[in-house]
Amino acid sequence: MTPYIEQNKDRFLAELFDLLRIPSVSTDVTYQPDIKKAAAFIAHQLKEAGADNVEICETAGNPVVYGEKLIDPSLPTVLVYGHYDVQPADPIDLWDTPPFEPTIKGDNIYARGASDDKGQMYMHVKAFESMMKNNTLTCNVKFMIEGEEEIGSVNLGTFIKERKDSLKADVILISDTGMISVDTPSITVGLRGLSYMEVELTGPNRDLHSGMYGGAVQNPLNALAEVVAALKDKDGHITIPGFYDKVEVISDEDRAKMAKAPFDLEAYKKALDIEKEFGEKGFSTNERTSIRPTLDVNGMWGGYTGEGAKTVIASKAYAKISMRLVPHQSWEEISELFTKHVESIVPDGIKVKVTAHHGGTPVVIPTNSVEFEAASKAYEEAFNKEPIPVRSGGSIPIVALFKEELGLDSIMMGFGLDSDAIHSPNEKFGIFNFLKGIETIELFYKHYAAVKK
Ligand code: BES
Ligand code: MN
Ligand code: MN
Repeated sequence: MTPYIEQNKDRFLAELFDLLRIPSVSTDVTYQPDIKKAAAFIAHQLKEAGADNVEICETAGNPVVYGEKLIDPSLPTVLVYGHYDVQPADPIDLWDTPPFEPTIKGDNIYARGASDDKGQMYMHVKAFESMMKNNTLTCNVKFMIEGEEEIGSVNLGTFIKERKDSLKADVILISDTGMISVDTPSITVGLRGLSYMEVELTGPNRDLHSGMYGGAVQNPLNALAEVVAALKDKDGHITIPGFYDKVEVISDEDRAKMAKAPFDLEAYKKALDIEKEFGEKGFSTNERTSIRPTLDVNGMWGGYTGEGAKTVIASKAYAKISMRLVPHQSWEEISELFTKHVESIVPDGIKVKVTAHHGGTPVVIPTNSVEFEAASKAYEEAFNKEPIPVRSGGSIPIVALFKEELGLDSIMMGFGLDSDAIHSPNEKFGIFNFLKGIETIELFYKHYAAVKK
């Protein structure tokens, strides 16, 4: 740890706690005032840290916070991306401590957003502060912190198109992913794409008495179960015709290289309390969550779900289904294949409506760039170990758009752990990860300026 981080760490944490207390949930309009509060908080902290031209940029949705420090046009420019919005805390009952009252237990900070992404985003603000105060900033910096990542970055595309000129940079730097473990640093070099669908099945025009009508009409909930069950076979293959047509084939050599990343299947199962892992036949657990696409039901509902029993055949049944995609699958095309297939397998007597929610394009980041080299050197210096490039299973749809619109690759220096329980109750972030992240980020700037010379 640098002396500056050591001397200021309590304040860094206190500030992060103030941010974590703001329930900036983007998916629920009741939290709109908190979205505004979180944006204002970040704008204020960027100014305090020494950023110029700090602006809370209104969009058609939640604001984007912008700030910059341009020290010399001949130096490289780093564009930092992060998000201040969070997922809902539900189910609240399953939290051991209140989700928006950050609590330290052991070596961790427990709160919604601690790891995804307030804690990780804030490391960049503090690394910047540290470099400003110590006169060690070696690059120009621009910050772009959004408030709609968890709802698909719906307005950020327009924002970057409109501000292409002011967002000019050499690289995008993001901490919104994870690392293998605290003593095995890794750099995220891939994200899966996403196609998120909703299926609505309609049977009879109203809910029916399940005795009077049971056995004589199609039950939309039974039909939905049939449809969902048919989307994957027993070997974990997705049955949608054409689904795998464009999937990138990874060479055995590359697979062997990826398999060298440390992974303990027993510990994995134990952490999740499962007796057996499951996934596509012929692939390892790590491959199933990185280089292979998948399909999962995220929610399924209809009929009576309250207490006790109600005898009813529902008129409607619903499911939300996500597909994680890999290069070179297109989410638009996959959404279409899904729709056609579901329409074709719905049993007679049931009407079907399929709608696509947000999508995202998969990305792979090259490891032979000077940007990657600088990140790698930063980890080597901070952890005394060479970081392992890892493809992640999650999605950050805007990363593909950064490439498309700004022509920039993203360097993803994630410091979260699988055990951080992001999107779950009891989300946490390690204090070590937070402080080490700040240190590693500062080192990135140092090495990046050096390799760009
Ligand atoms: N930070 C995550 C994505 C992530 C997590 C990537 C862990 C790699 C490792 C991000 O906030 C997120 O949750 N993204 C969503 C997609 C979005 C469109 C809602 C996701 O992956 O489900
Ligand atoms: Mn995130
Ligand atoms: Mn998230």
